[in-house]
Amino acid sequence: MNTVRAIYPGTFDPLTNGHLDLIARGSKIFDHLIVAILNNSEKEPLFPVKERVEMLTEATREFSNISVSTFDGLLVEFARQQQAQALLRGIRAISDYEYEFQMALMNRRLAPQLETVFMMPAEKYSYVSSRLIREVFRLGGSVEGLVPPSVVERLQKQAAQRPGGD
Ligand code: PNS
Repeated sequence: MNTVRAIYPGTFDPLTNGHLDLIARGSKIFDHLIVAILNNSEKEPLFPVKERVEMLTEATREFSNISVSTFDGLLVEFARQQQAQALLRGIRAISDYEYEFQMALMNRRLAPQLETVFMMPAEKYSYVSSRLIREVFRLGGSVEGLVPPSVVERLQKQAAQRPGGD
C-alpha cells in the first residue's frame, strides 16, 4: 500500500491555533505528517528552537501520525532525507499567495517529484500570524484563543523574565 509522508515546514515562532488547525487537517489526509521547524540562526527569534519543539510536541500529542522535527538548509533536501512526497503549506488570504507560489515553484524546480499541497485554515484564524501574535503580546494585548494555552503561559513567562518585566 502507498503511504504518503508530508512535511509541514515553518518558523512557528510562536505556534498559533492557525498552525494547529492546519496540522489537524493535514493529519487527516496524510499518513504521516512531519512538522519541521526551520533552525534559522540568522533571525533573532522570540523562542529558541528547542522551546518551539517543546510547544509543538505538547500541542500535537493527541495525533498519532504527527512528529516534530527541525531542519537546516534547503527544505527539499530535508524532504528527501525524510522520504516525504509532499509539502504542506497554509494559505490564509490572497496576500499569502505570491510568496507561497514562488516558494512552491522554486521547490518544484529543485525537487520535481515533491508536491506542494495548500490548505486553508478555519476562517476564524485567517488573520492570525506569528508576527501579529508577537506584536500584540509585546504591546500588552491579549492573544488568548489565538494560540494554545501552553503558548500563552510561555509568552507570559518570557515577558516576566525580560528586563523590566513583572
Ligand atoms: O513559517 P514561515 O516563516 O513562512 O516558513 C518559511 C519556510 C521555513 C518554509 C521557508 O523559509 C523555507 O523553506 N526555508 C528553508 C530554506 C529553503 O529551502 N529555501 C528555499 C525555499 S524556496
